[in-house]
Order: sequence, then C-alpha cells, then structure tokens
Amino acid sequence: MKLTVVGTGYVGLVTGACFAEMGHTVTCVDIDAEKVSKLKEGWIPIFEPGLKPIVIRNCEEGRLLFTTSLSEAIQDTQIIFIAVGTPPGDDGSADLKHVLAVAREVGDNLKDYAVIVTKSTVPVGTADKVNDAVANQLALRRADVAYDVVSNPEFLKEGAAVDDFMKPDRIVVGVESDRAREMMYELYKNFSRNHDRILFMGVKDAEMTKYAGNSMLATKISFMNEIANLCDRLGVDVENVRLGIGSDSRIGYSFIYPGCGYGGSCFPKDVRALIHTASESNYESMILNAVHERNEDQKYILFRKIVGRFGDDLSGLTFGVWGLAFKPGTDDVREAPAIVLIKELVNAGAKVKAYDPEALETACAELSPEWLEDGSVTMVRHQYEALEDVDAMVLVTEWKPFRHPRFQCHEGDDEAGCHF
Ligand SMILES: NC(=O)c1ccc[n+]([C@@H]2O[C@H](COP(=O)([O-])OP(=O)(O)OC[C@H]3O[C@@H](n4cnc5c(N)ncnc54)[C@H](O)[C@@H]3O)[C@@H](O)[C@H]2O)c1
Repeated sequence: MKLTVVGTGYVGLVTGACFAEMGHTVTCVDIDAEKVSKLKEGWIPIFEPGLKPIVIRNCEEGRLLFTTSLSEAIQDTQIIFIAVGTPPGDDGSADLKHVLAVAREVGDNLKDYAVIVTKSTVPVGTADKVNDAVANQLALRRADVAYDVVSNPEFLKEGAAVDDFMKPDRIVVGVESDRAREMMYELYKNFSRNHDRILFMGVKDAEMTKYAGNSMLATKISFMNEIANLCDRLGVDVENVRLGIGSDSRIGYSFIYPGCGYGGSCFPKDVRALIHTASESNYESMILNAVHERNEDQKYILFRKIVGRFGDDLSGLTFGVWGLAFKPGTDDVREAPAIVLIKELVNAGAKVKAYDPEALETACAELSPEWLEDGSVTMVRHQYEALEDVDAMVLVTEWKPFRHPRFQCHEGDDEAGCHF
C-alpha cells in the first residue's frame, strides 16, 4: 500500500519505518525542514533501539521517503496517518492545533479517496473535528472527494518502540465505514498473523481506550508511590510489599515499582487531558485528580530526602546524578523527575554532576544555559565521572549499566577500573 505519515517524532518515525519494513511504501512528512533534511541523510533524531537500521535499509530500498510537502506526499496515498504532537494546553486539555492544521492541509490537497487516521493521542470527539476540518477545506475548493476518518491510537513504549510496533499486544481501530475497516484490516493483518490482534470498535471508543489505558497505568504507579511513602513512615520494606502483592495474579508485577514519579510525554499529559475531558462533561474525576497530585508531589521526594539529610541550604555541596531520561532506553526528558530534582538542587545552592547514557543533550535543552556555563550543572560523559568529588549520588533512572556499580577502588586496579 502507499501510505503517508505526518509527523516524524517518536510515534511517526517508528510508524513510518515499521510499515516500510513490512513492504509498504511510506512517505513521512514533517514541518521541521532541518529534521527532514537530516533524516534524508540517514541521521535519526531520536534514540530508539533498533530504529536506525530499519530507517536506513528502507530508505535505501526506496520504500521510505521524507519530505516537508504534505501536498506532494498524499498524492495517490491510500492511508494518511496523523502522528503529530498533542501537547497539554494551560488548562490541561490536549492542544489539537497541530492535528487540525494537518487535517486542514489534507482537505486542501486531497484528490482521491483516502483513509485519514489519527494516531496521535486525542480526546473523544476529535475524529469529528478532523472530519469537519477536512470537509470545510474540501467545500472551500468545491471538491467532491470521499474520505473516512479512523482512530488508531498508538500503544508503543519509548525504549521498545520498534518491538512494540512490530509485535503489538493489540491494534485498536475505531472505524465507522466498511471501506475504511477493510483497508485497515489489510494494512494490519500481517502484524497479527499468529492470532488476530485487531480490535475494531467505534471511533470514540478507540479514542477513549488510549486515555483509559495510560490513566490505568499511571494510577498503578501513583498508588504504589503512595503505599511506598506510607511504608517509609511505618518502617516497612516496600520491596517486600511489592513482591507480596505482585504475586497476586489479579494485580501482577507490572507498574508497581515505587519511584520518584512518572514522566515522559504521555502519562502526565494524558491523565491531565482526561481530567479535563471529564470536567467538560461536568464530571469530577476524583481518582485521576489524586493520581496527578500524587505524581506531582512524588517528583520532589528525592529532593526532600536530600534536604532531610543535608539541611535546607545545600551551598558548597555537589551531587552526582545518574539518569536524566524519564525512563531507561530513551533520550526523552519531557517531564522527567531528574530535571525537577536538578532544578531544586541548584536553587538550594548545590552543584550537580549529571550523567545519562543517551539523554545528555536533550537534558541540556531543559536546563538554564547559565547553569551549564557557570558550572552549577556539569554533564559528564562517564557514569563514574559524575561521582568524582561529590557529597552524595542520586540514582534517578534505572539504566542497566547502573545495576552493578563498581564503587570500590581496589589495590591493583588500573585507572579505568578504579573510578571512585
Ligand atoms: N512518544 C510516545 O511514546 C507516544 C506513544 C503513544 C502515543 N503518543 C502520541 O503520539 C503523538 C505524537 O507524539 P510524539 O512523541 O511522536 O511527538 P513528537 O513531539 O516527538 O513529534 C511530533 C512531530 O510532529 C511534527 N509536526 C508538528 N506539526 C506538524 C505539521 N503540521 N505537519 C507536519 N509535522 C508536524 C513535529 O515537527 C514533530 O517532529 C502525541 O499525540 C502523543 O501523545 C506518543
């Protein structure tokens, strides 16, 4: 099939590359001209395991193309995926300006029937807005072109995105027309050869499924963080509690590690967006409000523990921070607890030496350039460099190389083996 994917971020680039890997011809579109020209040269803008060879191979074989021109890309295309960002607005709602801008551009340029798919995470009712936006633009140019709008939310996880896309647990497709349903089945059937994983449902049901899924996972995390905070006060080892409840098959082991709060570009914004959707329906989302509040507070837990040990004034102290990405396996630092911690430490007078295997550059972009220039924050290229001459270390993101640290310096170690 001939496909167009609009937006070449974490979702769009993985989607485009994986469909191309399955033999489809895919044109990826982005408004960021620099990104597109670098992608054409084989540069991958994000760290995502396994993605680079797929992009390069499919570009070389002519199945994966990049452009800034949506009008060119959608000629003869059968399915158009909208995979642009839906960042949170000031009131927590999902900002649909990028999605609707793409929908209008599609309406301006569509010549033949196509299925228009929202892959971005969008609130219930967005497909209707996409439909209206396309219809309005078609009407303006008096064009009579048929199309269908489908919701196909994405469930990939950063850090395992290629695997998740290639071997999905389920493929949710919200669709109202038989023609679009057949085309979506044709597109996805080879991703579920082993057994059928495609769940067809109504468009609104699919839109809600994405938010309900992320909110459920965020709820598990916030619940466990609350239990952990209580365990701290009661002298209970939460690790034993985790094992004790995880072994209950009704609960399971996933998403019950206590920690310093969830971050990333999905859970925080999706929980807030669903709270907003609820309030628009005059419904108070009591559980999700609590999930969000617990998480906001949890991001300060490491800082509070540090202040509890060293006092309010941290001047003259230096802290080594391991892990900046919001989770292992990605360079994404959006809403990452490590960034909150570093800001608190510097504001309290401390200096920070920070290390992350992949997120040093993305983290720099989130911090005040002054701090990087005046030495308040130093990014180091080796995990043990972050521990030289520091008063304490803070482990924030559980990257695998941090699991067996070599803190001891033994006699006979050469310099490389003796870091601290
Ligand atoms: N990141 C994830 O793990 C993940 C997982 C599932 C769903 N989602 C959802 O997928 C959507 C995209 O997320 P992301 O993390 O890939 O975003 P991203 O910010 O990494 O990428 C978005 C891309 O869209 C481009 N863009 C914006 N407006 C455009 C336009 N008018 N035309 C063409 N390109 C345009 C941007 O330049 C950018 O490259 C969001 O709704 C997100 O909630 C993300």
